[in-house]
Amino acid sequence: MCGIVGAVATKDVVPVLLQGLNRLEYRGYDSAGVAVLDTEKCLKRVRKPGKIKDLEKALLDDPASGVIGIAHTRWATHGEPSEYNAHPHVCNNSVAVVHNGIIENFEILKEAQQNLDYIFTSDTDTEVIVHQLHQYIDKGASLLDAVKHTVKDLQGAYALGVISTEEPDHLIAARRGSPLVVGLGENANYIASDVAALINETQDFIFLEEGDIAVLKPGKVSVFDCDGNSVERDVHHSKLKTDAVERGEYEHYMLKEIYEQPSAIAETLEGRLGESSVLEASFGPKAKDILDKVKNIQIIACGTSYHAGMIAKYGFESVTGLPCNVEVASEFRYRKHVVLPDTLFITISQSGETADTLAALRLAKELGYKHTLAICNVPESSLVRESELTLMTRAGPEIGVASTKAFTTQLVAILLLLVVLARRFKLPEDIESKVVEQLRKLPGIIDDVLKLDEEIKVFAEEIADKDHALFLGRGMHYAVALEGALKLKEISYIHAEGYPAGELKHGPLALVDANVPIIAVAPNDKLIDKLKSNLQEVRARGGKLYVFADQHANVKADKDTKVIQVAPVDIAVSPIIFTVPLQLLAYHVAVIKGTDVDQPRNLAKSVTVE
Ligand code: M6R
Repeated sequence: MCGIVGAVATKDVVPVLLQGLNRLEYRGYDSAGVAVLDTEKCLKRVRKPGKIKDLEKALLDDPASGVIGIAHTRWATHGEPSEYNAHPHVCNNSVAVVHNGIIENFEILKEAQQNLDYIFTSDTDTEVIVHQLHQYIDKGASLLDAVKHTVKDLQGAYALGVISTEEPDHLIAARRGSPLVVGLGENANYIASDVAALINETQDFIFLEEGDIAVLKPGKVSVFDCDGNSVERDVHHSKLKTDAVERGEYEHYMLKEIYEQPSAIAETLEGRLGESSVLEASFGPKAKDILDKVKNIQIIACGTSYHAGMIAKYGFESVTGLPCNVEVASEFRYRKHVVLPDTLFITISQSGETADTLAALRLAKELGYKHTLAICNVPESSLVRESELTLMTRAGPEIGVASTKAFTTQLVAILLLLVVLARRFKLPEDIESKVVEQLRKLPGIIDDVLKLDEEIKVFAEEIADKDHALFLGRGMHYAVALEGALKLKEISYIHAEGYPAGELKHGPLALVDANVPIIAVAPNDKLIDKLKSNLQEVRARGGKLYVFADQHANVKADKDTKVIQVAPVDIAVSPIIFTVPLQLLAYHVAVIKGTDVDQPRNLAKSVTVE
């Protein structure tokens, strides 16, 4: 999704803007641009389709510098990826704007502006913002008042950075529905879509609230709430380290993040386990009263996080007996609901900024869901700030678009929650201590699974030239199969589907031939014999099988069945374990195919628009 950086300082801000854009690359984008007010207080703008390095090259040919500026990476929504659609957008060579979000009423505003002879130079929704600002300034409003009036005219979501030649000493930021942070520096202040973009400049941040407008000067930041009142917002000190957002020795962020899973899981468990129990106090002081009352669970998430929710449903229903419904956020928000009393509304999200998930949370509150819990990886995110309870996954920044360590730490968090809920339904102590033991061993077990890398590469070599693939699993591992298919399709562009293995004969079996690899996960659970029968059905039709099997599951290799044996694991943690080889498989296929592993085409890391 679009990324924003802005700075006002006492020295040239272009290097900071470019560094910030590079740090936001992971969000996904198709063009980039920068605008500064130069020494003559004139607007200088440079934009380029493609990568940030293309913008950097353009800036070498046509240099820009100034003590105040805004910059942007664009992920196209309205209008194709091109230079003329790239941000910043400018009106009358005097006002410049960068925007993340979608302006839903842009057509109405555009028509009114065209009637006033404003000339449009892009196909974007954003351009109406800059013309609207100009209209107010033209009528005598200050830049701040123009922003205040303009945001009232906008319907939809926005995070904005604004500069103007009329008032060259400050930058204005505003947000509603899209993320934006203010970074506080020494003789310099900044805005960005996330903390990581500014981590080289400062560790102190203000997280703007819905409807906030901020005025930034080099030595001062003033914030106004949605009613225009001057307000004090807390300053948060970020613990994020620069090396956490760097690739280090790894060829791709995705590979680094796959290998970080043992430490990310250990971090997620830190302080949450007693000798043989889960420490409920680590859920926060409000948790006990709320969890005591829970009679139903509603889970909402998107993409990979939704797959974590599917696994949670299996666990919650089978261990606690609590009815649990799981739904993708984009569907939940547009249908009628039966709100059952005492339902815990759980959102799962790596970023905590996914527009659909956030909107579903807000809708849930309107609908009367009393208690909300966010399982999230970003402490400063909107989802965390707007939820009553939070259970943080401590995976550290995830930069690769394909979610890896965020998913496995979500599953760990879900297990912790499962145990504390199940206690209320008389979970035998020995079961709790067994789960705790498994959780403790998990980082070590994953280390061992990572050693299967060379064997997995051999599978990858055979799959990389195929156009389609099917992933099979049963029970909780159906969701693991879906996750494996999602990983493969998003980074290697091979069409992949996940299926519950028992469903094959109801349709997908028609696809099976020697050119459609069938990848199966075979834990040693109570469905293993059923799964083996399903695999026989594939073999009988000439299908080529690639199976990740628990050593105790006794899945035999033959000429059409390749098997990678995984050390025996307890069912409680097996979805976590079986996910890891599927991540590596997708990674190696993508590397063989030469795709852009960390920033696959058309995708964004954090989907902050609908
Ligand atoms: O940040 P979130 O967990 O809310 O993101 C949800 C999805 O956009 C995300 O999981 C997406 O499916 C991943 N890129 C998949 O690898």
